[in-house]
Amino acid sequence: MKRPMLFAVVLAAGAPLSHAQVVAERMIDGIAVFHASAAAKAEALPSFSMIVPREGVEGDPGVTLRPVFATRGGKQIVTVRVEPGTSFYGTGEVAGPLLRNGSTVTLWNHDAYGYDDKTPHLYQSHPWVLGVRPDGSSFGIIFDSTYRQVISMPPTSGGDITAMADGRGFPVIVIEKPSPQEVVTALSDLTGTMPLPPKWSLGYHQCRYSYYPDSRVMEVARGFRERKIPCDVIWHDIDYMHKFLCFTFDRGHFPDPKRHNADLHALGFKTVWMIDPGIGINKDSFPGGTYHVYEQGTAGDHWVKTAGGKNYVGDVWPGNCHFPDFMRRETREWWATLYGDFMATGIDGVWNDMNEPAVFNVATKTMPEDNVHRADAELGGPGPHARFHNVYGMFMIKASREGIQAAHPEKRPFVLSRANFLGGQRYGATWTGDNTADWRHLGWSISMSLNVGLSGQPNIGPDIGGFAGNGPDGPPPMDRGTLFARWMGIGALLPFARGHTGKDNIDKEPWSFGPKVEATCRRAIERRYRLMPYFYTLFEEASRTGMPVARPLFFDDPTDPALRSEDDAFLLGGSLMVVGRTVPDGTRVPALPKNGWRAFRFPGEEPDADLPEMYIKQGSIVPMGPVMQYVDEVPLTDLTLLVCPDAQGNAVGTLYEDDGEGYGYRDAGLYRRTTFTARRDASGAITVTSEVVGGWQAPAGRTVTVITIP
Ligand code: NOJ
Repeated sequence: MKRPMLFAVVLAAGAPLSHAQVVAERMIDGIAVFHASAAAKAEALPSFSMIVPREGVEGDPGVTLRPVFATRGGKQIVTVRVEPGTSFYGTGEVAGPLLRNGSTVTLWNHDAYGYDDKTPHLYQSHPWVLGVRPDGSSFGIIFDSTYRQVISMPPTSGGDITAMADGRGFPVIVIEKPSPQEVVTALSDLTGTMPLPPKWSLGYHQCRYSYYPDSRVMEVARGFRERKIPCDVIWHDIDYMHKFLCFTFDRGHFPDPKRHNADLHALGFKTVWMIDPGIGINKDSFPGGTYHVYEQGTAGDHWVKTAGGKNYVGDVWPGNCHFPDFMRRETREWWATLYGDFMATGIDGVWNDMNEPAVFNVATKTMPEDNVHRADAELGGPGPHARFHNVYGMFMIKASREGIQAAHPEKRPFVLSRANFLGGQRYGATWTGDNTADWRHLGWSISMSLNVGLSGQPNIGPDIGGFAGNGPDGPPPMDRGTLFARWMGIGALLPFARGHTGKDNIDKEPWSFGPKVEATCRRAIERRYRLMPYFYTLFEEASRTGMPVARPLFFDDPTDPALRSEDDAFLLGGSLMVVGRTVPDGTRVPALPKNGWRAFRFPGEEPDADLPEMYIKQGSIVPMGPVMQYVDEVPLTDLTLLVCPDAQGNAVGTLYEDDGEGYGYRDAGLYRRTTFTARRDASGAITVTSEVVGGWQAPAGRTVTVITIP
């Protein structure tokens, strides 16, 4: 996990344009936008990543980096010279180490089953590089194009960042700030933050491709409750559909979805169901000969067209499919209406998959680049798929989110998407796609989640246990049970925590590998639920500021070079550190921050060598609750504060609370943000005081237990 991959891709520089032509504008302090020329500025396509106008005041841009623009072979190339010793991160979802120096990333959303660190592009695209200079000061660069783009980052010895995109020239936005934290929050000022998700979605999720029929789903759900393993959500993958037709149910396996959802609700579960973009068009598969989505979509002329103006046909799960043109407002509005009846069956959240969009049986695995999207004027008007490919999934989840919101205006929507783009945290959570059940992918679960977090998306996690394959078959610790246990230990503490596996694989529920692994999984998931008050506080912070929930160790000390490449461990917020065991024999010693952290054990937890070690930062207070079988199963009357005083005997921490699923926090001040302050007096006694903001009431009879970590 320590060594960056070096890709020998050299991007020829092309003919540089005169720097005098470059238009430099200061947007706000420390943020500037550059265009190759006044003409390029006039022709620039609208930004799909940013929510603020991409303009400023011409003149001194107020940043030191200077993008150099060139064109070659119809592509625009941008180079940015950076100082030696700079560390690179970001570029979204890439397998491999956290540190991206010396790597090249292609941005082209791609159905990447079985990917590894040599796969050039995965499911999401983030034209975004974060740089941390040797002194810890930082910069970020948005290469603001939606077209296919290749970004190369120089080795640590220095050089140029190079970005080369198809299509029209694109503007470059440069952020310069004293720290990486400030760059990341500035990124979310520009691209928007993740809306606060419903609290239940912070619980543990159980999925597989696919649980069916409904009786099997119930068996799994009851399995959690009988074994007292906490779980909030059961997922329904494509096999619930009638012949993979979206917004239909296979009535043989799910005769009464409404009753089925109610049965799960009665056990305290929420339910998430999958919807893909490919809409089946084979009439002999239509239930009873009709299929409302196909009929409405055709009558409304909602499908993506071929270059010749016909409705494009591509092959996905249902066979031949048409694809909604999500670049049209009218189509998004129609798509949103489909969620009315669907959600009325008691569905709580939606999983949008295959939205790169994935197409089977073609070498490119997607639709032709000359397909035509009839995009609205504010999206730059009609254009080829090449321009909209990387944002197709993002606009699908925007439409889905709007539909779910309209179906339940009083609730916060939950959408999980496989494809996305820079800024897509505004619409949904993402996961790292079809990973593989092996040790390398366990390690990449951390580095990928961290880099996606550093690219603006805090709500991210892997398929815990691995999607492809059953896992290794060696003697312990090289066996699949140990791998699964370790993965649960780490995955349960990443922002989005869902176990999932592929079709025909062995069972991968927490109890599928025998009592020892089951006990580790229970402890791992119980940790998440004990920390739920802290997790929710971090998600709320992320929704306001864009600070990632899971953060790289170098956030603790951006000047410590040893932390720059460490990715077996991560920070949970600013106060906890999770040190994972990502190599089988557990002998690797990660580089941890030199000062200021104390190891701790969860109260009453049995020692377990397969679980990550936990540390708390001196000077901090972490709010915890009791183990519950699902989020808010009972009110938080028993609050525990983990208090770790600094050398002066002081500590501070925050707890955020609200009703967990509505908008009272936003519209009526119904939240409660408590700042706890601890002081140790001369006698050594610790006193904790609190200050509350907001109108939400804590549950009656709350008791607070203080546990001091010396
Ligand atoms: C591909 C997704 O990545 C995977 O998670 C899912 O199980 C399958 N599609 C089937 O829907």
